[in-house]
Amino acid sequence: MVHAAVIAPKLDLFDEIGRLKKELNAVILGHYYQDDDIQDVADFIGDSLQLAQEAAKTKADTIVFCGVHFMAETAKILNPSKLVLVPDLKAGCSLADGCPAEAFAAFKAQHPGHFVVSYVNCSAGVKALSDVIVTSSNAKKIVSRIPKDQKILFAPDQHLGRYLIKETGREMVLWPGSCQVHEIFSEKKLLQLKERHPQAKVVAHPECEAPVLKLADYIGSTRGILEHVVASDQKEFIVATEPGIIHQMEKQTQGSGKVFIPAPPDSACACNECPHMKLNTLEKLYLTMRLRSPKLEMDEALRVKAYAPIQRMLDWS
Ligand code: 13P
Ligand code: SF4
Repeated sequence: MVHAAVIAPKLDLFDEIGRLKKELNAVILGHYYQDDDIQDVADFIGDSLQLAQEAAKTKADTIVFCGVHFMAETAKILNPSKLVLVPDLKAGCSLADGCPAEAFAAFKAQHPGHFVVSYVNCSAGVKALSDVIVTSSNAKKIVSRIPKDQKILFAPDQHLGRYLIKETGREMVLWPGSCQVHEIFSEKKLLQLKERHPQAKVVAHPECEAPVLKLADYIGSTRGILEHVVASDQKEFIVATEPGIIHQMEKQTQGSGKVFIPAPPDSACACNECPHMKLNTLEKLYLTMRLRSPKLEMDEALRVKAYAPIQRMLDWS
């Protein structure tokens, strides 16, 4: 059991992780929703498309992936011979977990002749049943490339799917999945917050529900949102995505006086934080590197099937 291992209390984890990185010839990839400490120790921080692109081109022998399971799985699909380590194998995703491959195969069989577009937030099993993968960064571009007379099935995020239907004008059959984090933002509380901050611009991830997206001044992937607030001449933003991204927003706009307000969830809980992403901690990251475990493993036949639609995405991006 990895996490039963003891960490000496005086150990400087940042130094130790740096030392282990050299020892393993490792690259640490981290998603914007990770804890601040992990973001600060990572070699590369990105959204799911950037992380897949970085994983596809890395020269390191070991990829230490700080994100959720499907993201590390994508890195492994692209790098079968590399060691892919994850701080916690249980870091899942409500979208991926809500779309089991067997049920998805049956859904696909009910819609013959459809081109299957799957959001990257899904398991390797679902990827293997797909024609192309998209992320929130490239979904509009990829859907627009599909011939007009081709019927489309989109999975697993219904909210992103509806947003794409609106943006591209394409009809799509939708799998009824959703992100537990982005679904929790409250339209009512957002309206109240906007009243208190009349100058604030709302930036939102397309996994949010339509009434929240309607209130947004900018909609995009985590990377898109970050680039937007950095470039904007506005000073105040309400951020309708996982608040981990605010760390990079503050770092990249230091001294500008810009203010970032997390969009409020529906209740008093902290459920706008992704409980899966937050399973990763600096301590687990250190232990994972020290013990070379847990590592991501995958059946080769499944990997080969899941590779083709990911490669198509990278080619079309
Ligand atoms: P991005 O593609 O913006 O990184 O989104 C990933 C994700 O899990 C959002 O909840
Ligand atoms: Fe999945 Fe939502 Fe967490 Fe992203 S924020 S990893 S979509 S549960």
